[in-house]
Amino acid sequence: MAPTTQKALIIPAETQPHKLVTDWPVPKPGPTQVLVKLVSAAINPVDAYIPLFGGLGLVSTWPFVNGIDGAGIVEEVGAEVTSVAKGDKVFFMGGFDNRCATFQEYAVQAANRVAKIPDNITFDQAATFSLCLATVVTGIWANDGPNSVRLTPPWETNGTTKYAGQAALIFGGGTSVGQFAIQCARMQGFSPIITTASPKHTAFLQSLGATHVVDRALSPAEITAALPALTGGKPIQYVHDSFGRDRDAQRLGFTALAPGGAFVTVNPRNPEFIADLEVESEKKGEGKRVARAFGSYEIPGNGKLGDEMFGRLTGWLEAGVLVPNRVEVLPNGLAGIDAGCEKVVKGEVSGMKLVVHISETP
Ligand SMILES: NC(=O)c1ccc[n+]([C@@H]2O[C@H](COP(=O)([O-])OP(=O)(O)OC[C@H]3O[C@@H](n4cnc5c(N)ncnc54)[C@H](OP(=O)(O)O)[C@@H]3O)[C@@H](O)[C@H]2O)c1
Repeated sequence: MAPTTQKALIIPAETQPHKLVTDWPVPKPGPTQVLVKLVSAAINPVDAYIPLFGGLGLVSTWPFVNGIDGAGIVEEVGAEVTSVAKGDKVFFMGGFDNRCATFQEYAVQAANRVAKIPDNITFDQAATFSLCLATVVTGIWANDGPNSVRLTPPWETNGTTKYAGQAALIFGGGTSVGQFAIQCARMQGFSPIITTASPKHTAFLQSLGATHVVDRALSPAEITAALPALTGGKPIQYVHDSFGRDRDAQRLGFTALAPGGAFVTVNPRNPEFIADLEVESEKKGEGKRVARAFGSYEIPGNGKLGDEMFGRLTGWLEAGVLVPNRVEVLPNGLAGIDAGCEKVVKGEVSGMKLVVHISETP
């Protein structure tokens, strides 16, 4: 039986810092939900920025339990749940909802929004990527709504052939998001897949599917000059802005994109700049498609994709179709999260996902 109270890292009120409490209520699963005892939780940039910037418009109730990505063991299942059982190892993402948050010992989630962890993947690895993968796939494969460029997903007819041999350009391949943008582009057959990143990530990003890694420290003019040789003169049909905070890169990518091509940015909070690029392009009649990705399967237009993804994730991980992020484990469980958030804010996270072990919480 799960206890009735638990340790949780809460934000008591808007713009207050994290506070570790020991008497937070353990949520009860509804009929179609599961209760998960968390083993590992990962830190995303948004987790670091919410306590600093008052919820970023994403938080509707305070106190707020932070944390989006996690993995653990099913502790209880609702009366109607048949897809998972007590004792199963699973991973899932929360979504700005205290009951599903991962910076606590126990969380609930809908049974169709958890995936079993295959034997070749650790809890730490499984905790690393749900949000960042969702951010990529909702921006490219969601079938509806304004947040997707609607590429044909790889499980649909022609989804792995339609884009074969087309050039893709991914800005910020070293980010967690970028690593999944590369892997998804590889699944679809894009080639070449050119990415900007620090040169130290070259071998790893090539192992994920990048064909060329361009030093992200080069100037926009230098990157632009290098592209024709790297594409072999092919038009660039797809650009993914995986970093989302570099206007030079966004302008470069949007400009380099071929007419009719698809541009996805992960920064939906900076709409004006991208809108200006779109207007410029529309005036020229270029027909470039733009999506501002939002990493959630629960917003309108993304639900069907969520069902498809959760039906496939375990198999993809087991087969190595998707490779999780590399992991750096921080000490002290929930009490170590502030140190991780500080690293995020200082820009000290490099090619790794910061993870804590919940049971190490003092
Ligand atoms: N829209 C959404 O729903 C959504 C969801 C998740 C994330 N995001 C956004 O997506 C972005 C990436 O998130 P993440 O979790 O993947 O980040 P992350 O992995 O924590 O980012 C760290 C990486 O950023 C790289 N980096 C730093 N400055 C860069 C630059 N100017 N250009 C390219 N790469 C740079 C670093 O590269 P080095 O290793 O070379 O230092 C480092 O590896 C963030 O802006 C985040 O806020 C959006």
